[in-house]
Amino acid sequence: MTRTLTDRPAHTQDRLRQDAARVLLTNWTGTATVPSHTLYPHQWSWDSAFIAIGLRHLSPRRAQRELESLLGAQWADGRIPHIVFNPGVPLDAYFPSPDFWRSSTAGRAAGAPSSTETSGIVQPPVHALAAALVHERDPETSRRRGFLSRIYPRLVAWHDYLLRDRDFTGHGLASVVHPWEPGMDNSPCWDGPLQRITPAPAASFRRVDLTHGDAADRPTDLDYGRYVRLAADYRDHGYRDARSPHAFAVEDPGFNALLIASEHALARIAQALGHDPRPHHDRAEALTDSLVRHLWQPHAGMFLCRDVRADAVIEDKSVTGLLPLVVPSLPQHIADTLLRTASGDHFGLGSTTVLTPSYDLLGSAFDPARYWRGPAWFNINWILERGLRLHGADSQADALRRAVLEAAGASHFAEYVDPYTGEGRGATSFSWTAAVTIDLLARSGEREESR
Ligand code: SER
Repeated sequence: MTRTLTDRPAHTQDRLRQDAARVLLTNWTGTATVPSHTLYPHQWSWDSAFIAIGLRHLSPRRAQRELESLLGAQWADGRIPHIVFNPGVPLDAYFPSPDFWRSSTAGRAAGAPSSTETSGIVQPPVHALAAALVHERDPETSRRRGFLSRIYPRLVAWHDYLLRDRDFTGHGLASVVHPWEPGMDNSPCWDGPLQRITPAPAASFRRVDLTHGDAADRPTDLDYGRYVRLAADYRDHGYRDARSPHAFAVEDPGFNALLIASEHALARIAQALGHDPRPHHDRAEALTDSLVRHLWQPHAGMFLCRDVRADAVIEDKSVTGLLPLVVPSLPQHIADTLLRTASGDHFGLGSTTVLTPSYDLLGSAFDPARYWRGPAWFNINWILERGLRLHGADSQADALRRAVLEAAGASHFAEYVDPYTGEGRGATSFSWTAAVTIDLLARSGEREESR
């Protein structure tokens, strides 16, 4: 039997925890944590949610501040921007920079804050789940600081925004309007919808990511031109969804599954505050019905994305279609099928891969090295570990937990890894990799208090 890191003496786990803690402490800026000092030197939305989930074990207070600083930049329409810019960081440290997004002026009518610069797009809604986990780790500090009572209305407004302004089909699901919104920037799922987008001329912008990352691990220039075009079009329509053309609009199963998990978490938060949790459970159930009705694809054995503009299913198999495993009331036959698909030939979980890949191993676009076109990501595997446990696949969850810890330590907390070998790609000392490591170590493979 292969000897894994978690079979070794406790001091090895202690060492891993210390190393992971050091990453989070080094990446803390005083109010928030950068995903990576080199590649991502500001605050990112879903990164901060995962970071808070890890930080709660080191400092519950700091974990609360991580979420509070993000929500402090929330727009009046309820959106949580995907980047909150640190004014102390030079403009040329990251592109698209604040002078590209121009949120405080271009986004004024949509309710962008006047004194903080942000991007205008969003990322997956993991925040209420993170807030509930942070609270439950240390309810006393949370209550003393009024954490939940301050954050709850903001989280409700965030979900309201997604289901009010982003339900383009009337299906009761949120659409994403930029490939960065579901967080899986250059997934092959977007290749079709992006074909329709005329790229911004290469000379009109300068990529900074290639200064810090290997070009073979990052999106292509052509993709970047399209990302820039979509973001500029949204900005030029004041970031108002009703007025924007949204040439890219997709219903993504992972994004909506995380919204459902977070809506259930809002019920827990409401309960802790003495409010009625039922409206949140009701909304979560309605969302679950919509997710199953519109995005479940029996022929694929998983959920698939829907191209809203083309009114067509996107046939590519992405790990986003397995993320609904985090939905508690998934019909049993769907949960069973998802478990089979995860461990089958397309994703190889527990057999051909060490961690679940971001994209179909058998897909013609599969690339084990390039950003979201195949590599395995630690936050995604953390979500899947949770989903496996939720649906009773405890031994698979235990194995995945061990594999995440092994790969995180061996890769120096890489941003992502080759799914077959675990070899690190992208940045190292990556915050969410360290954060999910700390969280999985803290749980010692046991069923958590609230899942
Ligand atoms: N992940 C994107 C980037 O590479 C956008 O957040 O910058």
